[in-house]
Amino acid sequence: MTLGGVRLTSLVEGAEGRATPLYVYDLDGIVAAARDLSEGFGAAPHLIAYAVKANSAGPIVRALAEAGCGADVVSGPELELCLRAGVPADRIVYSGVGKTLADLDAALGAGDRGILAVQVESVEEIPRVEARAAALGRVGRVSVRLNPGIDVDTHAHVATGHDEAKFGVPLVDLPRAWEALGQSPHLRLVGLTTHIGSQLMSTDEYLAAADELMKVARAHETKGAPLEFLDFGGGFGIDYGGSSPLPPSAFARAATLRLAEGGFAGRTLVMEPGRALVGPYGVLVAGVIMHKHARAGGVERDWLVIDAGMNDLVRPALYQALHRIEPLSSPPPAAEEATCRYRVVGPVCESSDDFGEHPLPRAAPKWVGIRDAGAYGFTMASEYNGRRLATEVFLRGGQVVATLDASRWPSWVERRLGSGSPPLGA
Ligand SMILES: Cc1ncc(COP(=O)(O)O)c(C=O)c1O
Repeated sequence: MTLGGVRLTSLVEGAEGRATPLYVYDLDGIVAAARDLSEGFGAAPHLIAYAVKANSAGPIVRALAEAGCGADVVSGPELELCLRAGVPADRIVYSGVGKTLADLDAALGAGDRGILAVQVESVEEIPRVEARAAALGRVGRVSVRLNPGIDVDTHAHVATGHDEAKFGVPLVDLPRAWEALGQSPHLRLVGLTTHIGSQLMSTDEYLAAADELMKVARAHETKGAPLEFLDFGGGFGIDYGGSSPLPPSAFARAATLRLAEGGFAGRTLVMEPGRALVGPYGVLVAGVIMHKHARAGGVERDWLVIDAGMNDLVRPALYQALHRIEPLSSPPPAAEEATCRYRVVGPVCESSDDFGEHPLPRAAPKWVGIRDAGAYGFTMASEYNGRRLATEVFLRGGQVVATLDASRWPSWVERRLGSGSPPLGA
């Protein structure tokens, strides 16, 4: 298996049992994905606010910032990370239903005039932001995240724009939001935003949400000041094997057209892609610990126990996701008798630590690669069962250009930036 022109075995050979589990990312692929998405907007003004929650590694955030991307953050530490990684404050939006007062201070106090927008997710959040803006003596730039009440055909855990979701202000509550904003002299409404869910396979619901958002924007602008931007969110699906999602640029093209048809030509369109920019460009490399053969209930089972577990990649346990798993050193054999349908599992003491069934060489390989692990992989990892966090390796131009070893840095931000901080105890 190769990634970014590098043979992945070359990263683990000679370090058996020490190197894995190992996340490997192709920075060239990530930057090319961002450029491709950007082309989808044509000449229309736009901002790609990369959803950092998908993968917050410093080398990735820096590479995307250099490629002109902004960021969508969901916590104070993510905001600090982006600022320190070179994302300009005025290209950052901040989403999330539970921003602390300290997080709000960091957002409102960043740069010359705070970040591009604090995306308020409830009516109740408005007076909280107002109070902090007043205390800091700043004008708080806010956008309101709408919950358009649109259900999407995706996993329930990643559908965020329907009536039962905790996210955003439901359309019926908007009059209360306008009233709260009217009573907030330190806030300026600069945008409207929505994000209806993740792993979208068509533009239908995305554009339906955009239509709702534009309806609200038109109604607002007949009375109030023009908005600086409209933000339709992220959620572009990727192929985890056997599907053919639309490329992200198709979402950009369709949304740009819809924006113009809706009377907002020339208005800045913000999008918040996460998964589509990084997911396909990461592989989780795992060592094979052993092959376990068991006969229970009259059924023969072949388990392949690997050294990556649900603590490293929780998507299968959390979302019933199936990632392609392939041997690192050779393609799966064509001959039926040389192949075994292994049930690939990790070492964590949970039945849900299970990566599903995969055809692999009967003679168990030394290492396997779990594909499409660049998004919501390491960022959702934990140290459950006393397991160390995986090391991450970053490739560019066919070379290793950076490595993050989580054990070397004391704080999350230092760890994710991967620089400038002494090792613990130094
Ligand atoms: C507010 C917001 N924007 C953007 C995203 C990115 O979604 P995706 O990674 O599917 O593009 C998320 C992810 O859940 C989100 O919550």
